[in-house]
Amino acid sequence: MMQVKGGTVYFVGVGPGDPDLMTIRAKRVIDQADLILYTGSLLGQEGFQERKMTAKLIDSASLHLAELVELMQQAAAAGEVVARVHDGDPSLFGAIAEQIAPLEAAGIPCEVIPGVSAAFAAAAALRAELTIPELSQTVIVTRMEGRTPVPERERLRDLASHRTTLALYLSIALIDEVVAELQTAYPAETPVVVVQRVSCPDQQILRGTLADIADQVKAARMRTQAVILVGPVLTPDLRQSWDMQSKLYDRRFAHAFRRGEPT
Ligand SMILES: C[S@@+](CC[C@H](N)C(=O)[O-])C[C@H]1O[C@@H](n2cnc3c(N)ncnc32)[C@H](O)[C@@H]1O
Repeated sequence: MMQVKGGTVYFVGVGPGDPDLMTIRAKRVIDQADLILYTGSLLGQEGFQERKMTAKLIDSASLHLAELVELMQQAAAAGEVVARVHDGDPSLFGAIAEQIAPLEAAGIPCEVIPGVSAAFAAAAALRAELTIPELSQTVIVTRMEGRTPVPERERLRDLASHRTTLALYLSIALIDEVVAELQTAYPAETPVVVVQRVSCPDQQILRGTLADIADQVKAARMRTQAVILVGPVLTPDLRQSWDMQSKLYDRRFAHAFRRGEPT
């Protein structure tokens, strides 16, 4: 079991909102932290109820990078436990690389604790499998280019050409552009599900197709905190017309843990 150490900065993924979705490790670090810096634009304080009485709790939404790094560096240099709390999983769209680099350069130990990313919490809310044999065995996690550039070779229309399952973050305000790019490759009837504030009490789900999802999103006035899932694995009546089985549980399929039955 990981020991929580003073003088270390922990980049803690706490999942998409519901504190129940935090890992035990994340909670241990937060409960022992002297400084908790959290992304208040996406997270509430529900997950910090059992923090130390003396813990400093700071919303990072209004801070710029140098201020953030300074706060973390000073606290860690003084031997404090620092919890830098990120929504979802820190490795996805968390801007942790630019925070870890100066801290490591200053000799501050850093550790990352994984969390449940929004796309996976959304799949769970839908009881969906994102990888169904014969439909898609690939999930592309990406975003529509906005103010943050996306490399030219990763343009949405190029990724769309594979017709995999797609999970789009940070893109809901650009739903018209998203749909236009995807329709260059996916048929108009391709299922699309938008999940806003997944796992939170005000979670909202919109189900549609590429043909109608943009209108639904605009009618619901959704502009933030939503993940867009796309692909045939999201077909609503898939379970009624079930004829797809994985090899893993096929009784004739032998693998390291089971002998296959003769056909
Ligand atoms: C800065 S990114 C951080 C993503 C985060 N690291 C993760 O793994 O979920 C913020 C984007 O994540 C998605 N997101 C974060 N929390 C969400 C939630 N509770 N429900 C739906 N989407 C969410 C939205 O697309 C939002 O624009």
